[in-house]
Amino acid sequence: MKLWGGRFTGETDKHFAAFNASFSFDRRLIFADLRACVVHARALGQAGVLQQSEVEAITDGLKKIGEMAAEPGFLDRPEYAATEDVHSFIESRLVELIGQTGYKLHTGRSRNDQVAVATRLFLRDEIASIDEAIRDTQRALVELAERYIDDPLPGYTHLQKAQPVLFAHFLLAYFQMLSRDRGRMADVKTRLNSLPLGSGALAGTNFPLDREWMAAELGSDGVTRNSLDAVSDRDYVIEFISASAITMGRLSRLAEDLIIYSTQEFGFIKLGDAISTGSSIMPQKKNPDSLELIRGKAARVFGHLTAALTMTKGLPLAYNKDLQEDKEALFDTIDTLTSSLRVASTVLRNIELNRERAREAAITDYTNATELADYLVRKGLEFRKAHEVIGRIVVFAIEQGRQLHELTIDECRRFSPLFDEDLFDAISLESSLAGKSQIGGTAPEQVKEELARAKADL
Ligand code: ARG
Repeated sequence: MKLWGGRFTGETDKHFAAFNASFSFDRRLIFADLRACVVHARALGQAGVLQQSEVEAITDGLKKIGEMAAEPGFLDRPEYAATEDVHSFIESRLVELIGQTGYKLHTGRSRNDQVAVATRLFLRDEIASIDEAIRDTQRALVELAERYIDDPLPGYTHLQKAQPVLFAHFLLAYFQMLSRDRGRMADVKTRLNSLPLGSGALAGTNFPLDREWMAAELGSDGVTRNSLDAVSDRDYVIEFISASAITMGRLSRLAEDLIIYSTQEFGFIKLGDAISTGSSIMPQKKNPDSLELIRGKAARVFGHLTAALTMTKGLPLAYNKDLQEDKEALFDTIDTLTSSLRVASTVLRNIELNRERAREAAITDYTNATELADYLVRKGLEFRKAHEVIGRIVVFAIEQGRQLHELTIDECRRFSPLFDEDLFDAISLESSLAGKSQIGGTAPEQVKEELARAKADL
């Protein structure tokens, strides 16, 4: 039976019915919806709207629906294919199970507050799983950082070699980004977790439902304060997708870094077979499809963010059916983010650092030029002038086809009388790293400390 047949004499066009239906995807909300239904039924009992026996019949029926829905294939049954949405599905099953009393459950409620509460409860649980998935990626970063705690590689700006950093320092950069992402998700939850139930279709409800009690029962932090707002806003969906988009953006950067580092040209890391694919024609190939897909899937989530923002833009108060379009964007965001995090963790657990090659790359191409400039500063020269002197030395070294540490002290003195024998110590990889010993720098002691903090954080 339709939820709204009484006013209609004509049939619904079948193409429109299919267009209007959301059950194929919003069935995902069923358990969250059922939880809210139970609490609503009990609130109706407390308000004297339902008899205690009716409350029991309804809550028993809802429990059975939950059990049936958990059976594999139950929701896919062909006889349910034409169901309008998850809310009408629950009501139909309830009436089948307990008879006409089932029709009383919708008293004092609308699908507008029903869908809002179901989506919020659902998303609250999903955020908890996503937090765990982000944490696992962080764990994988930490494991890899521990394994290669002493190994350097070049750091880049403009994708040109800049200065040496520890590989662990590089990995912990991503750890930090993901920590902020976890904070952002937790923040989404604080605003999401208030209860719209009792808002009715748009104006509130005539029945004395104890909203504060319902909120406490459902683990919400409080109740929404305006019914028009509560049924029509989807800012929690937008915020969640936005937070997810930020995380996907990071994963795409990590993916890109690892793709570049695994090329023959860079050769810093080796990707394991578990996360690579071959070519259908070129037998020698081993491709980083796992990472490319993570990079590509970021685009999908960015698209969902645009869709969610656009869907609510200019929408008149209160509920409009446009809002049903939030579901697929939301669900696909959850799935894409979760699978991307899982694959990112797996990739991190299946890569090896080519220590020698990364180290060699870290000390060539004048990555220690800044050290040499800082050396002259310590000898009393103004930094800008030191920069100029070293620039000229670099040009000289390039012409000679030699690295800075391969120059002689006399050659260096031609550019400045301030150079002494100790310059070679100053520009060694070890002193270059050890010098960056302020909080947040790449000095081994500092990185070890941050690694310990990261582990404690997890
Ligand atoms: N499937 C709908 C949605 O996701 C549920 C609410 C329908 N409400 C209505 N008045 N048509 O938004």
